[in-house]
Amino acid sequence: MTPNERRQRNPRRHGNPTAPVGPDRIRIEPMSDQEFQVSRNYTIPEHAADYVRRGIWAEGVALETSREGFAQLLPQGLATRGKHFCNILDNETGRRVGEVWYSVQEKGGKVQFSIDWIRIEPQNRRQGYAAQTIRLLENEARGLGADRTWLNVWMDNLGAIALYRKLGYAASDMRMMKLLNPRPRRPPPARARKRSGI
Ligand SMILES: CC(C)(COP(=O)(O)OP(=O)(O)OC[C@H]1O[C@@H](n2cnc3c(N)ncnc32)[C@H](O)[C@@H]1OP(=O)(O)O)[C@@H](O)C(=O)NCCC(=O)NCCS
Repeated sequence: MTPNERRQRNPRRHGNPTAPVGPDRIRIEPMSDQEFQVSRNYTIPEHAADYVRRGIWAEGVALETSREGFAQLLPQGLATRGKHFCNILDNETGRRVGEVWYSVQEKGGKVQFSIDWIRIEPQNRRQGYAAQTIRLLENEARGLGADRTWLNVWMDNLGAIALYRKLGYAASDMRMMKLLNPRPRRPPPARARKRSGI
């Protein structure tokens, strides 16, 4: 491939950071059993840590709770019916840049397609890999007869929300929550108290 062809194919990596990434930039391939174990082994503790950070699970049992959740969700692991676990690969370099999990099932007389998890390795972020992967999955969903794709995102995951909005996703329903024992607000520092005469 000549440098010019390479530049046209992948303008972003050749000095034009705002150029859109070409549609053939990535492919997805099913994980091997071993890759799935590796992915599970870091996703379970990450998931547990996320729930502790948000105050939903207690630290001492979070890991076990996360393990149980995964076992329920994926009773046959990698072979669980309707669940797909894929590596995201850069077509040009063959390098793995991240991973994506998605589900396909027939429910209510229609094909339900959901993107369950996407993770781009930190060093590969903001290069269009997630956007390309989601577009590729949307094409896959269309091909399977789905008329929409679903995904979930935490309200504090602003980067992911920005990505999904940019791709045309909008909230379809809302899970609501109220803290019953909100933490008391800290008193202002002494200097501020003195100034305000408290
Ligand atoms: C969220 C995530 C998947 C995005 O992957 P990515 O490959 O960096 O995203 P892209 O490069 O395709 O982003 C496309 C656009 O989405 C928006 N976007 C993506 N990440 C963003 C961020 N952190 N902050 C603001 N906007 C962001 C931008 O508009 C971006 O376009 P730009 O780079 O031209 O500004 C990645 O940050 C990640 O793996 N995070 C950790 C796991 C996670 O939170 N997954 C989502 C679970 S719901």
